[in-house]
Amino acid sequence: SIIVPSVQEMAKESMAKIPPRYERPDQDPPTISTDASIILSSIPVIDLERLAIEGSTDSELDTLHSACREWGFFQLVSSTLLEEFKIQVQNFFELPYEDKKKLWQQPDNHEGFGQLFVISEEQKLDWSDMFYVTTLPLYLRMNELFDKLPSKLRETLETYSTEVKKLAIEILGHMAKGLKMEGEEMKEMFSDGVQSIRMNYYPPCPEPDKTIGFSPHSDADALTIVFQLNDTEGLEIRKEGKWIPVKPLPNAFVVNIGDITEIISNGVYRSIQHRATVNSAKDRLSVATFYSPKLDSVLGPAPSLLGKRSPAIFQSVSAERYFKDFFAKKLNGKSYLDCLRIADG
Ligand code: SIN
Ligand code: FE2
Repeated sequence: SIIVPSVQEMAKESMAKIPPRYERPDQDPPTISTDASIILSSIPVIDLERLAIEGSTDSELDTLHSACREWGFFQLVSSTLLEEFKIQVQNFFELPYEDKKKLWQQPDNHEGFGQLFVISEEQKLDWSDMFYVTTLPLYLRMNELFDKLPSKLRETLETYSTEVKKLAIEILGHMAKGLKMEGEEMKEMFSDGVQSIRMNYYPPCPEPDKTIGFSPHSDADALTIVFQLNDTEGLEIRKEGKWIPVKPLPNAFVVNIGDITEIISNGVYRSIQHRATVNSAKDRLSVATFYSPKLDSVLGPAPSLLGKRSPAIFQSVSAERYFKDFFAKKLNGKSYLDCLRIADG
């Protein structure tokens, strides 16, 4: 990848205009979340405790199932203790630039501070800095990078990673039920899955209508769990041709279906495009945790969901190959999902 400048550092200088590399005339400006037409639509909220109660869970499971089919997104009120993690992530982005430079992406690796998928010096950039790291399984960790993290962050990251993995497995289990998959199919793939964490910092921007914090994309993983650290709005999801803002709820996670779950569910659950916008007044912090099947699994529609009347709509591919291609690929608007789609016969 190409080495990019720090937007956080750049935004500290007072400027009236953003540099041309961040100008995105192709992007819709941020949605005004007080617009009457927008105010009525918001993503569903799921109660995990109600889901977990065997027997009386049907209505909550129905809510989850329709959220995954119609929105690809929901919010989940969390019981995880997030305060310490929040402080450590905030401190991390506040580190002096000299210290952060030691954690910057290297030309041959995408982990560390920087931006993902930047493959040319001409390419437009997002108005944000991110820190990306693979956390699980342990053998995939870049220990050189981990060892350089502030020790307090490393400790809370460890706890967070464990908790969020458990949560992802629990949610995927409920989804398997909602889809009426065979019990073991999900477990098999996800008990020792691959987890990576992306921390995002969006500085205030003098021209928020001209740029984008995080370009539109769908997630390549199976299940993404996003923790919004402050109450700044920015996340928007695509629904019926509009960008719908997601209002941050205190102590809640935003959960979304990734491409792999769309594949496994044979298109029943949907991996929805989303993006992050910025504003001129406040910074925004978020942490996205990605969960995917273990590398030696085969990604394809779950056999128990296939039949004469529901043929596979995606080709199968090994997880290893999927991720190799994903990180090597130029994201020219075409998603990997579309490459795997079987044309109607
Ligand atoms: C994303 O992970 O796609 C968006 C994260 C955010 O809400 O900033
Ligand atoms: Fe995303």
